[in-house]
Amino acid sequence: MALRNIVTVGDPILNKVCRKVTKFDERLATLIDDMIETMHDANGVGLAAPQVGVLRRVVVVDTGEEDVELVNPVVVDQSEEQQTGVEGCLSVPGKYGIVTRPERVTVRAQDRTGEWYEYEGEEIVARAFLHELDHLDGHIYTELAERMLTSEELDELLKKQAEEEDAK
Ligand code: NI
Repeated sequence: MALRNIVTVGDPILNKVCRKVTKFDERLATLIDDMIETMHDANGVGLAAPQVGVLRRVVVVDTGEEDVELVNPVVVDQSEEQQTGVEGCLSVPGKYGIVTRPERVTVRAQDRTGEWYEYEGEEIVARAFLHELDHLDGHIYTELAERMLTSEELDELLKKQAEEEDAK
């Protein structure tokens, strides 16, 4: 496994629509393993392939319990109930915004072997799934954000994150 370089806003690759995965080979397995390692290294909750410069429909999400790999994912169900909260992106370093998304979502996807499965997520997991799936169509959360956090709110958030990190 190896860490991959995370591309940041301004790189046109982040605005492109990714192609479906058709080959479930060793190369895909390596990409997924590298994405998981890169996500953990950057303390991220999720990562999409275009963020490491690969225009394929692949996403990884750390649900807090396990690392989920979503190949060719589609949303098959989402709750009418919404959640509003803080969102950030490894490709938009140092910034956070307020985004409203469905509270629960069901995603249908393939794993690295091509096996289809469904995964239901709520709260932060639903938010991460939807955020990462948007990346596959060239969209970044800042397009959806009601507003970005002020520098005071950002300081408060970073302080809280640092405290949580210390508590681990
Ligand atoms: Ni992102």
